[in-house]
Amino acid sequence: MSVVVEGLTKAYGRSSHALDGLSFTAGVGVNGLLGPNGAGKTTLIRLLATVLTADGGTMRLLGRDPATERSAIRRRLGYLPQEPGYHRGFTVFEFVDYVAILKEMADRRARHDEVRRVIDAVGLADVSGKKIRALSGGMRRRVGIAQALLGEPELVLLDEPTAGLDPEERLRFRELISRIGENRTVILSTHQIEDVAALCGRVVVLKDGRSAFEGAPEELRALAKGRTWLWEKKAGLLSWRTGEGVFRSIGDPPEGARLVEPTIEDAYLLLLGEATLVAAG
Ligand SMILES: Nc1ncnc2c1ncn2[C@@H]1O[C@H](COP(=O)(O)OP(=O)(O)OP(=O)(O)O)[C@@H](O)[C@H]1O
Ligand SMILES: [Mg+2]
Repeated sequence: MSVVVEGLTKAYGRSSHALDGLSFTAGVGVNGLLGPNGAGKTTLIRLLATVLTADGGTMRLLGRDPATERSAIRRRLGYLPQEPGYHRGFTVFEFVDYVAILKEMADRRARHDEVRRVIDAVGLADVSGKKIRALSGGMRRRVGIAQALLGEPELVLLDEPTAGLDPEERLRFRELISRIGENRTVILSTHQIEDVAALCGRVVVLKDGRSAFEGAPEELRALAKGRTWLWEKKAGLLSWRTGEGVFRSIGDPPEGARLVEPTIEDAYLLLLGEATLVAAG
């Protein structure tokens, strides 16, 4: 396993725990990280990227301990932050080259070859001379992914790479990310549950700084089997009126409800809803 995390805790200030005893593992392939706003996804990714240090718990990244071997880990790591600073006056090439310099790629010619390779890999070769500020949001995200691929990292951390993209662009991202995950460990945080279903071999659901689920997307979906139904009335943990006028609900079905195949989103909402109920009482 490339990532082994056990009992990880992290607090900002004294009051609340962003991570509260989180354990999970991740290996080669695309690993999805789901969770509501504030669940701790970005905190976890920043810990994995070694830009934050944990308060407690243990982490092994690529077989190493980030407390003592941080540089060795960083050399084999690519990271797209949730809110990257792009230096908008740079061209695409200049920006990626700048990150490559920070990544200690000293030899100019080899570095430029690598910069061109990653720009090409994300399909931006045509705009490599354009200023970042002149790019669309989707193209800018691809620049972020390009810099995360510099130096063929074995562990790639992508914090909401598809936020705000149109459906077509998101499909292109799926292709790109699944390609990246063929031979390395990708950890991808997202609110796009369909992306997880389509892309990820494994998914971890974070809730209040802990893992509420870890497994295959299909196993997540199975949690809602027999607990997703249509009925004429509002009932269950969560329900909404569909276009056909009946209510689609999740939770324990009442007598006479018509069971339907759950989606992974149903299961996700069910899981979060129950976690909330447990927390509340
Ligand atoms: N720098 C910070 N200072 C104080 N509190 C923080 C800081 N960063 C995050 N937090 C808090 O830690 C918790 C987890 O935040 P985090 O950003 O990790 O969540 P997230 O799952 O990435 O959310 P989102 O989906 O909105 O990106 C939240 O309660 C948040 O308010
Ligand atoms: Mg976040």
